[in-house]
Amino acid sequence: MYEMRDDLIESPWGNDGKQVRQYVRPVKISAVTGDMVDRRVVSYQLYNSFNYSAFFPAERRSPIFSIGVTSPGRSEGKTTAVCNLAVALAMGTGRKTVLVDFSITRPSIHEVFGIPPGPGLAEALCGSDICVVPTQLENLFALPAGDRRLFTPNRLSAFREILFSLNNSFEFVLVDLPSAGSRAFPTIIANQLGGLLIVVRPKMTKRREVGRLFRKLHEKSVLGFVMNGVNDDDL
Ligand SMILES: Nc1ncnc2c1ncn2[C@@H]1O[C@H](COP(=O)(O)OP(=O)(O)OP(=O)(O)O)[C@@H](O)[C@H]1O
Ligand SMILES: [Mg+2]
Repeated sequence: MYEMRDDLIESPWGNDGKQVRQYVRPVKISAVTGDMVDRRVVSYQLYNSFNYSAFFPAERRSPIFSIGVTSPGRSEGKTTAVCNLAVALAMGTGRKTVLVDFSITRPSIHEVFGIPPGPGLAEALCGSDICVVPTQLENLFALPAGDRRLFTPNRLSAFREILFSLNNSFEFVLVDLPSAGSRAFPTIIANQLGGLLIVVRPKMTKRREVGRLFRKLHEKSVLGFVMNGVNDDDL
């Protein structure tokens, strides 16, 4: 596959912002399809109200294609937010969307969409095929985390090529990232994405953790915040 010259296309990620030519790896669509959507996570009400206009900024000719979702700490609603956003984008825009489970320590996308836990991102980082699985929802595909034991820091550099290849096959790539405060958080990768959404949750998220997160991330990559789990009393 890597000897072929016609799989080289322009990538926006050159050194010094110059365009470079980069390999596109084939993306395989699995014959297995998701067998359910967990309605406790994906709520029609939620995704109908998701305002995704931020991904189509007026000053850019093209939408922002790759979006990571993180939060300062654990269990603040990253997976809930990224799943609902993926459904909103796929169904609301009719554009092909892939949801990537980069939540290495606590992967759960496969549970939400009833797909096999692997092979997935971990195997693709090790050089296997990038194998995405169609969900039950039209235009929405998922790349599960795969075998967590294969995630090692030295494999992470391959993510750029995977992201580039996914961007070539899908209009939106959404990434469920680990908590920004965890040791597993891939700062370099998060900063390679087109934009980041930060989930915060009342009574859980600490102000100083949000400050720490901003010291790790490029401020200009942050597209906005999702306030999760808000009750009428909190407003
Ligand atoms: N708005 C909400 N209302 C009620 N429960 C919620 C809400 N958002 C998330 N939860 C619940 O909180 C738990 C954590 O949510 P979720 O898995 O989305 O968080 P996470 O940030 O992805 O967690 P992790 O750090 O484990 O990856 C889940 O049990 C989920 O069902
Ligand atoms: Mg999660």
